[in-house]
Amino acid sequence: MRIVVAGGTGLAGRRVVATARERGHDVVALSRSSGTDAASGAGLRDALTNADVVVDTLNVATLDARESEEFFRATTANLLAAEGDVGVAHHVALSIVNCDRAPYGYYTGKVAQESLVTQGEVPWTILRVTQFHDFAAQMFTQARVGPLRFAPRMRTQPVAIGEVAARLVDLAEAAPAGRATDLAGPREESLAAMVRAYARATGRGGWIPAVPLPGRFGRAQRDGTMLPGPDADRGTGTFGQWLATLSGSRA
Ligand SMILES: NC(=O)c1ccc[n+]([C@@H]2O[C@H](COP(=O)([O-])OP(=O)(O)OC[C@H]3O[C@@H](n4cnc5c(N)ncnc54)[C@H](OP(=O)(O)O)[C@@H]3O)[C@@H](O)[C@H]2O)c1
Repeated sequence: MRIVVAGGTGLAGRRVVATARERGHDVVALSRSSGTDAASGAGLRDALTNADVVVDTLNVATLDARESEEFFRATTANLLAAEGDVGVAHHVALSIVNCDRAPYGYYTGKVAQESLVTQGEVPWTILRVTQFHDFAAQMFTQARVGPLRFAPRMRTQPVAIGEVAARLVDLAEAAPAGRATDLAGPREESLAAMVRAYARATGRGGWIPAVPLPGRFGRAQRDGTMLPGPDADRGTGTFGQWLATLSGSRA
């Protein structure tokens, strides 16, 4: 099967690429660094030619609602149009558990993405997952004001990216399924504690205060809105196991 992974050089995307290749698929990793801009649409039709399935793991690093919505609207619309032109039979999108219960900030873009996919003409599957363990590293890098780092207050049940990637490839190999069963990690964690533990594990400890992000986006992060429901599948990889794999690295 020929699988194009949009965002195939990213955190989730590169694991999807590796897993799909291990299973013997013909895999193309699509990103700006490989010459294709999904936001402008330049080069997209060529990149998707002969693809059976597109797995969308594109991302934009922002908390701003407008920026997020613009990115996910543009990239999703361009992907779906190009898929329609070249006859791709299945679009698989990676989304976030309960993003539609908190359509604010970054999640605004995820809700827009899901809506375009479900209303589009390309048969689809959407997999919603909780935050990755690596979200601790992403927040460590992104959450700072000048030299000061902080950790957003958030209740989360993080999941191992390897388990997300395996599930995405399972779904890509199967027929379009609509909304797939949500996938979460094995247990609830505090994002602030995760960020601090990540900093210590990579030799960059120090004072990292837990800060409530403002507005409805921040409230949804704190009040448990983003936690999985009882019907979600639960993976087995824990945050502690992920941390142990870092052992002094600066991942
Ligand atoms: N991080 C989490 O905890 C988490 C949890 C649940 C769901 N998700 C979802 O998982 C998806 C992937 O997140 P991630 O953290 O793995 O992303 P990431 O590491 O930021 O990677 C983003 C990928 O998108 C590519 N990209 C960005 N803009 C592009 C453009 N205009 N055209 C083509 N490629 C572009 C990047 O490559 P270039 O920069 O080279 O273009 C990169 O390959 C997102 O949709 C996110 O909402 C994330």
